Amino acid sequence: MSTPAPSAASLYADHLATLQARTATALERAGLDHLVIPSGTLHYQVFDDRDYPYAANPQFKAWLPLNRNPGSWLVVTPGARPKLVYLQPRDYWHVVPEAPSGDWVEHFDIVVIRKPEEAQQHLPKNAARCAILGEPQSALGQYGAYKPNNPQAVVDHLEFHRAYKTPYELAMLREATRRAVRAHAAAERAFRAGASEFGIHLAYCQAAGQDANELPYGNIVALNEHAAVLHYTELGRLAPDPVRSFLIDAGASHAGYAADITRTYAADTACEFQSMIDAVDAAQRAMCDRVRDGVDYVRIHLDAHLALAGVLRDFGVLRVSPEEAVETGVSAAFFPHGIGHSIGLQVHDVAGFTASETGGRIATPAGHPFLRLTRPLAPGMVVTIEPGVYFIDMLLEDLREAGKGDAVDWDRVEAFRPYGGIRIEDNVVCTDGAPENLTRDAWPVDDAA
Ligand code: GLY
Ligand code: MN
Ligand code: MN
Repeated sequence: MSTPAPSAASLYADHLATLQARTATALERAGLDHLVIPSGTLHYQVFDDRDYPYAANPQFKAWLPLNRNPGSWLVVTPGARPKLVYLQPRDYWHVVPEAPSGDWVEHFDIVVIRKPEEAQQHLPKNAARCAILGEPQSALGQYGAYKPNNPQAVVDHLEFHRAYKTPYELAMLREATRRAVRAHAAAERAFRAGASEFGIHLAYCQAAGQDANELPYGNIVALNEHAAVLHYTELGRLAPDPVRSFLIDAGASHAGYAADITRTYAADTACEFQSMIDAVDAAQRAMCDRVRDGVDYVRIHLDAHLALAGVLRDFGVLRVSPEEAVETGVSAAFFPHGIGHSIGLQVHDVAGFTASETGGRIATPAGHPFLRLTRPLAPGMVVTIEPGVYFIDMLLEDLREAGKGDAVDWDRVEAFRPYGGIRIEDNVVCTDGAPENLTRDAWPVDDAA
């Protein structure tokens, strides 16, 4: 008989127990008694009364699935139930947060306050005994007496361990991925129906059930040459004519956790650019398969240069061997970003370079400044694998000026330039055994063939 899957409620309870244990160690290291975390505040535009979209303090949402609650505070004291000071303002201008509800409520002692400044009376009396993790604007009390101090030892410990997701967090990431994948399918349909970048973006948001303020980052929706801009977020209102290619890098959120997915399509699926997409896709799958315990993520990045240079060589864009393209820096003109990053509560999750739970830094290899993760892979880590090849005028000019132009067949560059570029990005869990590809597992059609 198989054992039933643990319920979401029990996963969450276990998640809190893990955070409690991490917190006890972190506080002990710092010689402090309490962890105190403000959820954050609203920020206002300069000389204006318009607020920016609220973003919850990630230290806060690590504990609670609350993303729309500025002005609340969490207090964690080892050996005691955590306490939530929950701001529910009296305000007839805005919809205020509902009374606390959900499975999480039973794990906290909850005090409801009506004004932000009432929080202080419910926090530990002696702020000097607290690790207060937050932004300066969260300070409370006269002259900001109760203010975030972000002790390095506490931040290092908590952030280092946040790379290892709990089973609860993996469940949240699966859900965020499912939502994003559904929206990616809608975006592809809109592209094939001839929609503009803006139209595709709206189709994506509609299918995700999320808009700009809820999505974990601004959608990258790029038609034709726009795909050569790594973070293209312009959303053109008119579809170009003809439409040749479509790159979409877009995610979704669930309970504070992010998905980050990229796909690239050719309008004409019989064209050579489609074959290049297929080649990058095959290389990307092989890279995903290397997300395993003990593997050096930096190695995956460095080998990706070789694999992508191999694709460019096969398609006649490079005239030199992949090895020579990598050694001479030519591959970096076509693949000018890192292979990926850790993902979780933040799209680019924290502590990508942290050497140990007490800090330290694992540097990026020389010549690869944009890599965001240098830690060795271990079970529980969730990373993106996002190789790309692009035809970026600026970098190609630099290549020529550096006297490396002979490595490239420029007629072949001209043939592919109108398509912009290719990126394929999945979110992959490192386990004790084979990797779990969250993205491919959620894709509506089985494209594993
Ligand atoms: N969406 C940004 C990234 O892929 O890292
Ligand atoms: Mn990414
Ligand atoms: Mn992305």
